Amino acid sequence: MKNISPAEFKQILKIDKESFDYYYDRAKMSAAFDYYDHIFVRSKNKIVSFLLYKVEKEKVFIRRIAVAAALRQKGYGKKMVEKIVTIAQKSKKKKVYAFSRVSNIKGVKFFKSLNFEIKNKIEKYYLPNDETAYILERPV
Ligand SMILES: CC(C)(COP(=O)(O)OP(=O)(O)OC[C@H]1O[C@@H](n2cnc3c(N)ncnc32)[C@H](O)[C@@H]1OP(=O)(O)O)[C@@H](O)C(=O)NCCC(=O)NCCS
Repeated sequence: MKNISPAEFKQILKIDKESFDYYYDRAKMSAAFDYYDHIFVRSKNKIVSFLLYKVEKEKVFIRRIAVAAALRQKGYGKKMVEKIVTIAQKSKKKKVYAFSRVSNIKGVKFFKSLNFEIKNKIEKYYLPNDETAYILERPV
């Protein structure tokens, strides 16, 4: 995996487990970090939040974003999304988008507070319960 130590990988898995009911196992997380680019926020030499993204042809896609449970609502999530917006600007993309489970009220509020709007939805998108996904998008 791209420049990630075993200790850091453990921190990422822990954050993911406390962030999602359907969290990634080692293999899935490793594959995700191989395919996507990432952003970390560190505090006291530990990863406290991560974001996986991809610069696509026309937009930047936020694949996954999570902040350690004890450190939420302190601006870490916002800071990472702002970095993605800067990356989108530099790569001349006009939009950033993300998916969220429709049941993730806090996640949707988070994205909406950062100028994302619900643009569409995809039924039966999420495992394991065939939950609908919102597609949230914001201009850059
Ligand atoms: C969603 C998540 C990434 C937000 O990260 P965070 O660092 O806690 O968020 P921030 O502190 O940067 O919040 C930015 C704004 O989002 C909104 N927001 C954040 N958490 C919120 C919550 N629990 N309820 C309502 N609004 C919230 C607020 O408007 C906040 O601004 P404010 O603090 O000035 O009011 C974090 O809660 C998390 O990891 N959740 C679990 C995983 C997840 O749901 N990921 C997103 C879906 S893929």
